[in-house]
Amino acid sequence: MKPVVILGIESSCDDTSAAVISNGILLSNITAGQAVHASYGGVVPELASRAHQQNIIPVVHEAMRVANVSAQDISAIAFTRGPGLLGSLLVGTSFAKGFAQSLDIPLIDVNHLQAHVLAHFISEGREGERMPQYPFLCLLVSGGNSQIILVKAYNDMQIIGQTIDDAAGEAFDKCAKVIGLPYPGGPYIDKLAENGNADAFQFNKPQIPDYNYSFSGLKTSFLYLLRDKIKETPDFIEQNKCDLCASIQKTVVEILMAKLRKAAKDLNIKQIAVAGGVSANSELRRAFAQHATKYKWEVYIPALGYTTDNAAMIAISGYFKYLDNDFCSLNSVPYARVTV
Ligand code: KG4
Repeated sequence: MKPVVILGIESSCDDTSAAVISNGILLSNITAGQAVHASYGGVVPELASRAHQQNIIPVVHEAMRVANVSAQDISAIAFTRGPGLLGSLLVGTSFAKGFAQSLDIPLIDVNHLQAHVLAHFISEGREGERMPQYPFLCLLVSGGNSQIILVKAYNDMQIIGQTIDDAAGEAFDKCAKVIGLPYPGGPYIDKLAENGNADAFQFNKPQIPDYNYSFSGLKTSFLYLLRDKIKETPDFIEQNKCDLCASIQKTVVEILMAKLRKAAKDLNIKQIAVAGGVSANSELRRAFAQHATKYKWEVYIPALGYTTDNAAMIAISGYFKYLDNDFCSLNSVPYARVTV
């Protein structure tokens, strides 16, 4: 029987990515980043969509070449419909529509946030791959989201907690910016924290009900500490950069884990996953490993390549929808905002 081959396309922010999955096994995952934003300190939407336009055909071509599939082998095309930058999404959506129409094959729309959660089901066809069992909890932490999601099925996810202001990645990036680190600052904080004392500075932790998060108070507490210390020692930041990074990182991770622990206990769930760009953070990964031992959690941490935006997660989400004949129409338009 002909295998089910899904071409996945991701273009929600500043990464143009295409992946091919055959019968649930990943054959290729190609991503082109966009250096054009580096000097602006953040992603410039208009430049992002132009770069997607330049990248999309070579990236798809390369994904198909590496996977050794031709256009006629593709069963359906899955694309990120949202949330994300509208202009960027429009490039991937339009390309997917045009390609699907020309091949007369189904089109599958994918929610980018759900895809981050489903990244745990990407299989490279290796022995001993571990995947979470439903129901599980997923901590989704990225530049724009901090959510605790109760995942009951691939298409049944419930947000049980989320940030009421900044996301965890945003907190890292904003704190990094005030101490002069490049954007996005999360990975720089992680690196400098390796040589710092995590107990050097204490910051306010939010008192927020339920499973929700807040990071804006932490950011303010960080700013006030710097303001006061710089008055006494003008080069305080330079002298204490590693300790500042280690301390802020420890606090963010403690805040994230406290609510996750509460949710896991209340719902009596021991299958716990993490997803999104911040799951690359080494302190968060350490905290997951410690919780696995202490609370007998079965933890699922994606490979680093699948934590950031990638088309493999779009293709696997598309594969599940394909098996359920869950297709979308050619009239589907991208959306900038949505929850899981
Ligand atoms: O999911 P993601 O790639 O995309 C967006 O949400 O845009 O997440 C990006 C976020 C950024 O805030 C970045 O600083 C953060 O993930 N991040 C990290 C690390 N790697 C990426 N934060 C802390 N430690 C890291 N190692």
